[in-house]
Amino acid sequence: MENTTFYRQQLVNKLISWSCPVKQEDIVSLFDYDMSKDMIPTDGIVLLTDKKVILMADGNMQHEIELSGIDKFVFRHDVGSVAVECDIKEGETIVLCRATMSHSKLLGHMTKKFNVYLEKKEFSEDENTSPDDRCPICGTPYKKRHGKICTNCVSKKKLFARLWEIMRPHKWMLLAGSLFFVFSLLISLINPYINKILVDNYVNNPEIKSLIEDDKTKVFIGFLLALLLTLGSSILGYLINLARNLIMMKVGAGTILDLRKMVFNKIQMLSMSGLSKKTTGELTQRVISDTQEVQNFINSQIPNVLGLILQLIGVSVMLIIYDWRLLIVFLLPLPLTIIPMRIFHRFSRKIYSRQWQASSKCNTILHDIFSGIRVVKAFGTEEKETVRYDAAARRVRDLSIRNETRYALLVPFIRFGLMIGNFMVLYYTGVKILDGFMTVGEASMLSSYVAMVYGPINWLTNIPNALNRVFTSVIRIFDIIDEKPDMIDKDKTVDKDIIGEIEFKNATFSYDGVTDVLKNVNIKIRPGEMVGLVGKSGVGKSTLINLVMRLYDVNDGSIYIDGTDIRDISQHSLRSQIGVVLQETILFSGSVYDNLLYAKADASREEIINAAKTAGAHEFIMRLPDGYNTIIGEKGHTLSGGERQRVAIARALLRNPRILILDEATASLDTEIEKQIQDSLQLLIKDRTTIAIAHRLSTLRNADRIIVLDEKSVAEVGSHEELMKQKGIYYGLVMAQRQMSKMSRQ
Ligand SMILES: Nc1ncnc2c1ncn2[C@@H]1O[C@H](COP(=O)(O)OP(=O)(O)OP(=O)(O)O)[C@@H](O)[C@H]1O
Ligand SMILES: [Mg+2]
Repeated sequence: MENTTFYRQQLVNKLISWSCPVKQEDIVSLFDYDMSKDMIPTDGIVLLTDKKVILMADGNMQHEIELSGIDKFVFRHDVGSVAVECDIKEGETIVLCRATMSHSKLLGHMTKKFNVYLEKKEFSEDENTSPDDRCPICGTPYKKRHGKICTNCVSKKKLFARLWEIMRPHKWMLLAGSLFFVFSLLISLINPYINKILVDNYVNNPEIKSLIEDDKTKVFIGFLLALLLTLGSSILGYLINLARNLIMMKVGAGTILDLRKMVFNKIQMLSMSGLSKKTTGELTQRVISDTQEVQNFINSQIPNVLGLILQLIGVSVMLIIYDWRLLIVFLLPLPLTIIPMRIFHRFSRKIYSRQWQASSKCNTILHDIFSGIRVVKAFGTEEKETVRYDAAARRVRDLSIRNETRYALLVPFIRFGLMIGNFMVLYYTGVKILDGFMTVGEASMLSSYVAMVYGPINWLTNIPNALNRVFTSVIRIFDIIDEKPDMIDKDKTVDKDIIGEIEFKNATFSYDGVTDVLKNVNIKIRPGEMVGLVGKSGVGKSTLINLVMRLYDVNDGSIYIDGTDIRDISQHSLRSQIGVVLQETILFSGSVYDNLLYAKADASREEIINAAKTAGAHEFIMRLPDGYNTIIGEKGHTLSGGERQRVAIARALLRNPRILILDEATASLDTEIEKQIQDSLQLLIKDRTTIAIAHRLSTLRNADRIIVLDEKSVAEVGSHEELMKQKGIYYGLVMAQRQMSKMSRQ
């Protein structure tokens, strides 16, 4: 694989520069690490040969361990660092190497691969055996804000093609906008000419007196006509610009809508594991700001391309025809303008990028504080948060002041360059007028043309900057659009009417691909069975039900529903037949009624009220200010935890699912309410497969079977009575809870 070879080659080159004695062909595999055992930054490489594992650090060989003396390699997470250890046969453990968290995935995978090699003497390279935070072509670390795209190696041609992809649906409108720009340009070229006629033939015509004496009316009509022509061309220019702006506004609004739809739809399609790599702030930024950047570019730059280039050519041609020396005279001092501009743009690109990062950080802080405002208030940390936000906002301010100051300093330079240009033009035309080779009208026309060269030149110096900005956004947008959804439905998935049998066969799952959360889980749940899932906090109960809902895919083994692998059932069909009441109830902002309708869009009012009644929610809903029409805020903050849970239960009831998942569904309810809705829950679980997770074990008494998870796998299975007799983990948990409740009663 190109990816791996490149990484490997980089490390091999480093070994050669270190004069490492190990022969290249003896190296089975190798990886880099960046911390010594004592946590000091180190440039190190671990080598695996068929006999030894060798540790190099900062150019020196540190350690050699015979493979025959190693039992196994162990990967460990520490605070802020990761480590690979070797269990040596005498029962001793030594730390092989340490690294920062950015190496976590690489070291985790390498540990696995090294262990396979210990056992079977086999080593297979894959993309995980090279760090995924660097460009495979040039080895530069990816910038977080660009996703997995290296700005050095990405082809500009490809980016243009992608930009075109975005614009293509609007190509005709864009062409129309550009044509209008050309029309308005032609008009602006005509104006100085009419002006020249006005000045030379009327205002500054030495023979005007004799002409008036000859035929006053003719002179007057000619003068009026020239004036009207100026007025007419101005009005026409105005109308054309208006039409062009309207067209571009439409194109802009259209593209931003298309783009946002594209990015948003894609984000919706991504799996939970794909999504959890990016923060909410980052995703929002991509949907909102990056698309805005592309829209701005399309609106303000694209229609100008054709127009301004034509303007530059048109004016230059006019000047060359009229007096080519004038163009040279004007262009001579231009470097004075262009050079400081280029320098400014180069600096501003860096500052702009820093400013972007600072403002994104500032937004993230704001987002964090607002979404956790209740915690902030509860802990009384308003002042601390204000200071934190203040510092971030100050940084944005400082950077923007720096940027603006540089720009302000630059403006006089540009003006100076232009002033010199104008001065030289004035001198040149003045001398010509004095020598009698040029009229005042001609001189004023030529000055107007010369002034028209400046616009395109300014734009051309700006264009690298604008391109840079839009490419950054295009990269980030396509980083999302190109992300392969890792859980797309296969071609031959089926829509299945689920009966309700769930089977886990050797299912192994890990969130980060390194540490397993569940390992070799084997469970078979019969249709209609009510199963309680029990285990210590963090053992993987919620994870297990996430797998049933297929929010994540297992890394190993399979999950079957009615004998069909869930990966062969279409996601829509699977999820539409699963009802959930989750640990953290999410309600959308909207009315209570809308939130209930979310579960079943075509439910009648009676159905909804019945479901709410069964879930014990009707009473409190009726007490709300607007009953079912009461708007509940973001995340349903105006409802209490128990009320939210009852709405969620009603939602699950409405769905009438074949498989019901209750993750701490009654945890926020007091004993009285729980008793009240226990009967309805009993109704709810009747005739459907139910997996219920509860810390309050008494609520699982009615379960047909209880599954106890421990140490990443199933530890005990049986009915309440059986497990109590067994006196294992479940027994321990029940006893501990009884003890607790006894103590709290005392
Ligand atoms: N999205 C995630 N990414 C990475 N790790 C996760 C994620 N969700 C959970 N984990 C980790 O997986 C392990 C199992 O978590 P899980 O939520 O399944 O536990 P649980 O048994 O439901 O605990 P509790 O009883 O407290 O709800 C925990 O160590 C947790 O830190
Ligand atoms: Mg949980």
